[in-house]
Amino acid sequence: MYSTTLLTTFALSYVLAKSDLSNRRFPDGFKFGAATASYQIEGAWNIDGKGVQLWDWYTHTYPDRIDEQDTGDVACDSYHKWREDIDLLKALGVNHYRLSISWSRILPNGTVNNINPTGIEYYKNIFKTLRENDIEPLVTLYHWDLPITLHEIGGWTNPLIAEYFAEYARICFREFGEYVKTWITINEPQSTCSGGYTAGAKAPGYSLEAEGLYLCAYVHMLAHAKAYHIYDEEFRDSQNGRISIVLDSAWSEPASNSTSDIEAAQTNIEFGLGIYANPIYLGNWPKIVIDNVATRSTLEGFVRSRLPQFSQEEIDFIKGTADFFGLNTYGTGLVTLHNKVDEDIGIPSYTLDKGTTSWADPSWPSDVPWVRQVPWGFRKLLKYVYEKYGHPEIVVTENGWADKTGTLNDVDRISYISQYLSALLDAYYEDGVNVSGYTVWSLLDNFEWTNGYTQKLGIVQVDFHHDNRTRTPKDSYYWYQNVLQTKCLVENCI
Ligand code: BGC
Repeated sequence: MYSTTLLTTFALSYVLAKSDLSNRRFPDGFKFGAATASYQIEGAWNIDGKGVQLWDWYTHTYPDRIDEQDTGDVACDSYHKWREDIDLLKALGVNHYRLSISWSRILPNGTVNNINPTGIEYYKNIFKTLRENDIEPLVTLYHWDLPITLHEIGGWTNPLIAEYFAEYARICFREFGEYVKTWITINEPQSTCSGGYTAGAKAPGYSLEAEGLYLCAYVHMLAHAKAYHIYDEEFRDSQNGRISIVLDSAWSEPASNSTSDIEAAQTNIEFGLGIYANPIYLGNWPKIVIDNVATRSTLEGFVRSRLPQFSQEEIDFIKGTADFFGLNTYGTGLVTLHNKVDEDIGIPSYTLDKGTTSWADPSWPSDVPWVRQVPWGFRKLLKYVYEKYGHPEIVVTENGWADKTGTLNDVDRISYISQYLSALLDAYYEDGVNVSGYTVWSLLDNFEWTNGYTQKLGIVQVDFHHDNRTRTPKDSYYWYQNVLQTKCLVENCI
């Protein structure tokens, strides 16, 4: 059904017209892909033995926190339509498909004493079919759908969750390792910890400003490292795969050339990406984070820092637990100083510990507030990650454009992705960054968390008003298909 290359007149003229794009060919071996996540596409929230998870509970308990009271109960119905999704991927010509496993579909209570064979079978069938179609699965073990039983005992603020996660990971390596050679432990801990435990914007919706984010980050680091070591020690030799984590970051651009703004931008990225990347790639939290939180905690009257301290054993255990750098990125922020470390003492808060403010330049193109087309920021971010974290191989595991209309003629998405891919080529060829892959978010329009179905990021449209959840490729799908075939963003690459 999707097998013919149907580059629409529009998409073709776009390719021809964009002379400002890099005319370098993507390097040999560069991998292209598309991504989704279990809760955002699967639906089937309560069938075939699946347990309830955090977002089932959140959307059902607090419907008003989700735009239009949407839920992922049916989503794209990929639980039933996954073969169609693979057909779309095959015709697109991707090298890899990034998808996630729903923990509570495999372990309904989150724990290994109760394994759901139907859940195991579901993912095995997908992985087998991907293999038959020569598409490599990039599999995320945790993309935010925590079994509710584990949330009820404290979720990501309870260090025991790290043990449960590691045990779940072991089951997945054992059951799926024959088919899966690239594992991602956790998707974007920063989004969970800031959105879910500090800002109250994502499930579980807590505003634990003083300690929530730090505790959540601490538990995530332990969980990731435990899973990594299990893979390394028990499975790597026989399965020959690799494993990492996916971290997200916007680029932090100083709002001016002043020393204060330059420092603020550095602090901002350390309090974001650094909290999660430093322990893994460099060892321990960033120094500025340790210092700021300790100073403010003392001034606030605490007897110890609100930031959990890693023991030396934990530092060594977490450091080096990544075989590549999985990077998700969408935007850029201009950053300035909000408060100095000893100012505004009163209410303990992550935001004040950080002491920076960031905003987007309104002239940067966007259709929704949180994604703006700033390709130079993407290039700077790639270079920063590469240089700061010891020259790791970088795989862009998510990047994409959100619009409100979901139009098939998605000119803005083509513009965004082409500019970002062009910036990626500049980072590769001009800056020497070892970036080996790019994954568009998303294959399908899907459940966009608290924005429900009001924001669309798919290169394939899904009709959420129809029981059949009809899939229709957008212009960006055909445009991307052409890039994958030609390995080139313009008419003729050098
Ligand atoms: C998440 C995706 C999400 C996307 C767009 C990323 O933070 O991993 O699940 O849909 O951004 O918001």
